[in-house]
Amino acid sequence: MGYNIAVAGKGGTGKTSLTGLLINNLTKNNKGTVLVVDADANANINEVLGIEVESTIGEIREEVSQREKQGNAFPGGMTKAQYLQYRLNTCLAEGDGYDLMVMGRSEGEGCYCYVNGILREQTDKLSDAYEYLVIDNEAGMEHLSRKTTKHIDKLLLVSDCSRRSIQAVARIRDLARELKLSVGEILLIVNKVPNGVLNKGVCEEIEKHKLDLIGVVPLDNLIYEYDSSGIPLVQLPEDSEAKTAVRDIMSKLELK
Ligand SMILES: Nc1ncnc2c1ncn2[C@@H]1O[C@H](COP(=O)(O)OP(=O)(O)O)[C@@H](O)[C@H]1O
Ligand SMILES: [Mg+2]
Repeated sequence: MGYNIAVAGKGGTGKTSLTGLLINNLTKNNKGTVLVVDADANANINEVLGIEVESTIGEIREEVSQREKQGNAFPGGMTKAQYLQYRLNTCLAEGDGYDLMVMGRSEGEGCYCYVNGILREQTDKLSDAYEYLVIDNEAGMEHLSRKTTKHIDKLLLVSDCSRRSIQAVARIRDLARELKLSVGEILLIVNKVPNGVLNKGVCEEIEKHKLDLIGVVPLDNLIYEYDSSGIPLVQLPEDSEAKTAVRDIMSKLELK
């Protein structure tokens, strides 16, 4: 069984950016094989990582259901399950020290229960072959309960410096508990912090909600520059504020 890290929080707080930098750190330190899962319907971690993705799980699901609807047989006399397995392997994008799987859009029309069931079984099996599984989630937490039955070793909640964003991650923490998700530690990262120093109001909010703060990532102008010029964030200098902060957080995480 792999070591499972999931990242969640309100939209726009920096989940995808930080997940990308976290993966970069993980692969640099050669911690083991890594599977990255982009579980956001509005998938974009490939841009932060700087790799191309050919197809998403959502597209495969759509394609398989279209084939069936049109009464087309699967190529080479494959069964539906065999074909899904084959297509699943083709949708893995190979990065530098990791593989990336993009979930993509989750529902079209029609019923996908059967295909979803097989896909879930197969993605679960696939992820077991890796030492680390890192999931970039969409804003809510609801889909996590549907998409994974796996144990999450570290659930990283990303918030910006607003009280509302802190409240949002507190709700995600509460929801994870209500849903009885199997989670090791739930830790808070506050991102986009001016000068890297939290103000009193935000500290109070964190305390009020009894959130476990593991680190702070400064508001980094370089991220803005790289983003607007379309340069993958993983190429940020090692001594940039963001990478330095992520390095510090990763060492505190004490991954196995
Ligand atoms: N530490 C930071 N400093 C400056 N800008 C940041 C920082 N972290 C993220 N951003 C910017 O914030 C925006 C949202 O980030 P993103 O990672 O896409 O958030 P999410 O995945 O939570 O929706 C992006 O434009 C990104 O470049
Ligand atoms: Mg995102």
